[in-house]
Amino acid sequence: TGIERSGVWRYRELLPPLPDATIVTKPEGNTNLYEVPGLAAWAGVARLVLKHEGENPTGSFKDRGMTVATSHALWVGAQIVACASTGNTSASVAAYAATAGLPAIVFIPEGKISAAKLGQTIAYGARIVQIRGNFDAAMALVQDAARRYGIYLLNSINPFRLEGQKTIVFELLHQMGWEPPDWIVLPGGNLGNTSAVGKALTELHEAGVIGRLPRVAVIQAAGAAPFYEAYRAGFREYHPVTPETVATAIRIGDPVSYSKARRTIDLTNGVVAAVSDEAIMEAKARIDRAGIGCEPASAATLAGLRQLVSDGVIPVGASVAGILTGHLMKDTDAVMDYHLGPDAANHPLANPPQVIDPTPAAL
Ligand code: F0G
Repeated sequence: TGIERSGVWRYRELLPPLPDATIVTKPEGNTNLYEVPGLAAWAGVARLVLKHEGENPTGSFKDRGMTVATSHALWVGAQIVACASTGNTSASVAAYAATAGLPAIVFIPEGKISAAKLGQTIAYGARIVQIRGNFDAAMALVQDAARRYGIYLLNSINPFRLEGQKTIVFELLHQMGWEPPDWIVLPGGNLGNTSAVGKALTELHEAGVIGRLPRVAVIQAAGAAPFYEAYRAGFREYHPVTPETVATAIRIGDPVSYSKARRTIDLTNGVVAAVSDEAIMEAKARIDRAGIGCEPASAATLAGLRQLVSDGVIPVGASVAGILTGHLMKDTDAVMDYHLGPDAANHPLANPPQVIDPTPAAL
């Protein structure tokens, strides 16, 4: 069955107990871990492996959380599910709701969501509400609607989502023979995944499966970095921001899982960094050129790693695992803009097609 083939339900003993009959699985997980010596050298570390969560059924890590939360929704008899999203959550919600036979409503910011993610969400049949506002406004509205109308909320504020996302770490460490890397690096937006990573590491450590905790580095886009700003202030203050970044998946100014994510930083002696859009797009081009590929938000991982090494925070001898959160084809607009857009001439890895007449002479 799908349950047996799922890289999430494989770790069932460490997940909430749900009966087989309510489990909605596509199945997800079992994503590849890539050894990338060329990118390790570029970032400046001894060893880098990349876990490609874009290889999940709808193309992002969200599916790992969605299988658990949608199953829970069925188990409690939910009639309708909803989420706010920058695109990946909405695609995943739409697909899992369609699989479960549940109606879904997704709240998305108008404009700032990639065509591919919007297309997935439309195609899977979710009802789409476009908000004249950003993700944070959509998030506030869907939370209010969920309370008001008794709708089952599938955002990562739902703890069952985080339970499923823990399996990114379980599977990663399993693939590494339960020998943890020195650092785990991932992008941070709404901070659900950061929270899930911390919970997973703590559970494995407390169970004695791993002998030491890797340090966690969370990377934000500089134009959407409230967590980074709070970290810099020693977590003594927190201010939401008006977000802007090319990495639309993490264009979030007021993350709902701020407090849980703080625990991850505290528990793992972690760090938070912020990287420019230019750095994100260059790192993305490098990951793409290595034959792996990812969407812009995912590339914050490599851009952040390189910056933290050059700042002396991550030592050159470190062994690092990076999480790539979404597939290359999630945002082809960003690809076209980098390689063919008005600024392409300034991009070191730009690779525009050459246009010729269909003649041997022209060739
Ligand atoms: N990377 C990608 C590709 C994402 O889609 C997201 C979040 C993140 C990283 C950040 O993860 O929110 O747990 O800190 N996307 C959400 C969405 C917000 O609606 O698809 P996070």
